[in-house]
Amino acid sequence: MQHTLKYPDGHTLLRNLNKTYPVIQEGKGVYLFDEAGKKYFDASGGALVANLGHGNAELVDAIAEQMKKVAYVNGMQFTSRAMEALSDNLAKKAAPLHLDRVSLLASGSEAVEAAIKFARQLWVDRGYPNKHKLISRTPGYHGNTLYALSASGRPHYKKVYGPLISSVLSVSTPYGYRFPLSNSNDADEILREYHEKGADYYAQELEALIEKEGANTISAFIFETVSGSSTGAWVPPKGYFHKIEALCKKHEILMIADEVLCGSGRTGKFFAAEHYGLKPDILVLGKGLNAGLMPVAAILVKKSDVDTMKSASQGFMHAQTYMQAPSMAATALSVLNYMDQHQVLEKSHAVSEHWLSELKAHLHALPFVGSITGIGHMAGIEFVEDKASKKPFPVAKKFAPKFVQHAQDQGLIVWPNYGQADGVNGDLVILGPSLQMTMSEADECIAKLKTAIQTFQI
Ligand SMILES: Cc1ncc(COP(=O)(O)O)c(C=O)c1O
Repeated sequence: MQHTLKYPDGHTLLRNLNKTYPVIQEGKGVYLFDEAGKKYFDASGGALVANLGHGNAELVDAIAEQMKKVAYVNGMQFTSRAMEALSDNLAKKAAPLHLDRVSLLASGSEAVEAAIKFARQLWVDRGYPNKHKLISRTPGYHGNTLYALSASGRPHYKKVYGPLISSVLSVSTPYGYRFPLSNSNDADEILREYHEKGADYYAQELEALIEKEGANTISAFIFETVSGSSTGAWVPPKGYFHKIEALCKKHEILMIADEVLCGSGRTGKFFAAEHYGLKPDILVLGKGLNAGLMPVAAILVKKSDVDTMKSASQGFMHAQTYMQAPSMAATALSVLNYMDQHQVLEKSHAVSEHWLSELKAHLHALPFVGSITGIGHMAGIEFVEDKASKKPFPVAKKFAPKFVQHAQDQGLIVWPNYGQADGVNGDLVILGPSLQMTMSEADECIAKLKTAIQTFQI
């Protein structure tokens, strides 16, 4: 039997029609094994999804227990104990954020769309039907369904779909390596200037846009609390959310925190918002909420806003077949129970601190490595053609996709992004290993990455 596939082999519509795909056989912890017997270190959990590693039998058994009882009922007709227990668990975790009602969707993109619709309906129900515009950030990513794509600050993703894309307002994403008020290429100096001047710089940009458009037309501001693959895991500058939150309150703009990638423990706290004392109106989870066991995403909202909807229009009008499905609820509930019972977050801190500092110590001086940053179990490495000027490689060189293939050939899985430097050029990889990665696995991850960078030729 053939152990790899390349289009037109088989009948799957393969994602890349020029790539050869190994057939994966099984996974265990941070490792994956393909049918040819090759072992991979999964340093990105796919697209930062497999937060609890691969082949976790305890999780599968817990989900199966619920699925054997009942896997599907429609959320219009029933709720289930799995759904109620999941909502209780999430509401308890989100109590400091004042979010206490939960709805489930089947992907991050869908949950983002639901969050945007929730904000819009809330303004209609509050009696402000003019408030409909959305502000998002560039670079940024909120998904690939049409409105989530419209909200995504990735110009190159929208090229083909241009005629189908809706207009969404945009401000800059905090992105330390290319912070416009810093000319330095010294990592410490960049950080100093970014944290000193960043909050004012980015808040002023947002305020200018709000004033230009008119706050009475703006419904919501959507952002990734910690930017994911779009900037390579850059955290916001000090005081950023304090200023942004004040602006949104003053202008009555709802805040939607997209934590599809950075939530569910990825940054070391369950919600990334907890690092910044941020209290968004709506928070979106996905990826790590399901740890890769089945597609589940969620929106978390406030009871006071749901009460407004109850009196005005009887409920949130968004509807999809799998909302609140018991199988999805059981998956997310099993993930949360597992994390709580095994103290996954508490135990992850020592490893992530070691991993992040060693990544910087061992990789920063290597060729092409412009910047390394991150928080918790997420890190980004930006590659440049010229380290002194931070000049990116021309996009035509395909640095990031070629590097990712090179790493995969060497048995290391990382996740690429490109275009972040100026909308066209710019290459980075993002890492997001299992939150249960051990110290020695962290060292192995760094050693493999170092070898991949050292042996890569563009
Ligand atoms: C921040 C963020 N939001 C939304 C999405 C979309 O999620 P999905 O691919 O599950 O639709 C992603 C996916 O990468 C993401 O990183």
